[in-house]
Amino acid sequence: MDSGSRKVAIVTGGASGIGRATALLLAGEGTRLVVADVGEAGGEETANLIRARGGEAVFVRTDVTKDSDCAALVATALERFGRLDIAFNNAGVIGYAAFTADYGVENWQRVIDVNLTGVFNCMTHEIRAMKAAGGAIVNTASIMGKLGAPGGSAYCAAKHGVIGLTRAAALEYGRDGIRINAVCPGYVETAMTVGDGSIFPKRKLQAGIDRAAIRRMASPDEVAAAVAWLVSEKSAFVTGEALTVDGGVSAG
Ligand SMILES: NC(=O)c1ccc[n+]([C@@H]2O[C@H](COP(=O)([O-])OP(=O)(O)OC[C@H]3O[C@@H](n4cnc5c(N)ncnc54)[C@H](O)[C@@H]3O)[C@@H](O)[C@H]2O)c1
Repeated sequence: MDSGSRKVAIVTGGASGIGRATALLLAGEGTRLVVADVGEAGGEETANLIRARGGEAVFVRTDVTKDSDCAALVATALERFGRLDIAFNNAGVIGYAAFTADYGVENWQRVIDVNLTGVFNCMTHEIRAMKAAGGAIVNTASIMGKLGAPGGSAYCAAKHGVIGLTRAAALEYGRDGIRINAVCPGYVETAMTVGDGSIFPKRKLQAGIDRAAIRRMASPDEVAAAVAWLVSEKSAFVTGEALTVDGGVSAG
């Protein structure tokens, strides 16, 4: 296959965790990657890992809370590779845990800005780029997009919002050949949950593992595999779906 006919994907939050695992998996399938993140060292490292394995990748420093950054990200994908087929809008932050009355407006705003408005910002530019030839978008929600979690009001609100946004846009653009889905991971071993300096409450992690039918956390690769399926032809009739990948946490 000549290089120009290989698919092109944007992955936000690609410097680490689920984003990096997905970027590496897609690149291993022959997709050309545009890795986006606020974290420059990690983002460059992901792009380098892809190139070291024989793939094509570029890193674009992107703060998804800034619409102009998201516009530049999509423009770079088009300039560099000439097309955009896939987008995984995955950048996210957990926020400080506190009950709602004590949550704080700044904490609230940050979590909503990155996790919800960031997805909206990326999608607007991605959809415009995909309208002529179609494409597949996956947005990272969470099981907290389907369930409540004490201490996580903004995170739950943002992730519920991501699912609503996904469904609305899926209905709008199905006729343009753009499928739009969400992935809802449970507890995944990444910097967010188990990394140095993670602010994720540790007792909640253990409680999450205890609630899972498969009594462990997911690896980032296990979420990446679901995303890779959602952006592939194998899921050609799936759109507007919020696919849970949680080892059974929310089954009970
Ligand atoms: N780890 C879990 O248990 C879990 C569970 C459900 C959902 N999620 C979601 O999965 C996604 C990926 O998280 P992860 O677990 O891989 O964590 P992670 O911390 O390893 O990755 C998140 C990435 O997002 C980037 N990021 C943060 N703010 C950004 C911004 N403004 N612009 C661009 N990039 C930004 C970070 O730099 C980081 O590289 C997030 O949306 C998270 O909410 C994670």
